[in-house]
Amino acid sequence: MASPPIFIPDITQTYSKEQLIVPPHYKEDISAVLIPSGLIKNRVEKLTREIYSEYYNKKPHFLYVLEGAFKFFSDIQHFYMELQSSDPAAGPFSFGSVSVSSYKDDKSTGNIEITVSPKLKKISGREVVIIEDIVDSGKTITGYTKPNKEKVPGLLQELEKYKPSSIKVVSLLLKRNSESNGFVPDFIGFSIPNAFVVGYGLDYNEHLRDINHICTISLLGEQKYKDI
Ligand code: IMP
Repeated sequence: MASPPIFIPDITQTYSKEQLIVPPHYKEDISAVLIPSGLIKNRVEKLTREIYSEYYNKKPHFLYVLEGAFKFFSDIQHFYMELQSSDPAAGPFSFGSVSVSSYKDDKSTGNIEITVSPKLKKISGREVVIIEDIVDSGKTITGYTKPNKEKVPGLLQELEKYKPSSIKVVSLLLKRNSESNGFVPDFIGFSIPNAFVVGYGLDYNEHLRDINHICTISLLGEQKYKDI
């Protein structure tokens, strides 16, 4: 059973970067810490226990979305293996990655590029668990229709071609975006305000992934790493 996401209120409650450990070279690039690393870790451990019990007698195949969900998945598999090692009845899991890109600066480009590896043939008949860093508009996962009526498939449609027996979605973050298409992942770590966030694997034009906390980017950071 999935627990409800932790609700992070609109940007009134953030943590000062002066009170937490933030790499000195990034101090000017972020405005505040939205979710400190300790809270992320504990929530990820809790989500992992829920996923573990959901797939207890099954053999899930985790598919993490590159690049952003790499860190999230790395923590999930660490906690999952800890649970397995203390449980003689535990079953195995397997994993792979899928590459998706759709953002430039802090805006969706409207073009979803999904690169699937030939290894994906192996997900046929498997219980697939997509591991995503953030769901914002929901388009990356479910696709969308262009104004000229052309349908752009999302990750779910691409994966369904390989005939897995089931697909569930785990997302660390769900953004409260009024323009969301309404897609709600099966497991959600945190419900966050409609702001652009970086850190814990999430990037701004490939920068700022290597911060342990989830942070809001500063104006200076936006200018410094703008994709020109
Ligand atoms: P969606 O298609 O609008 O749901 O966006 C999902 C993808 O957009 C994520 O996998 C991220 O790569 C990217 N994204 C959306 N919001 C953010 C953000 O606040 N920070 C970093 N990446 C984001």
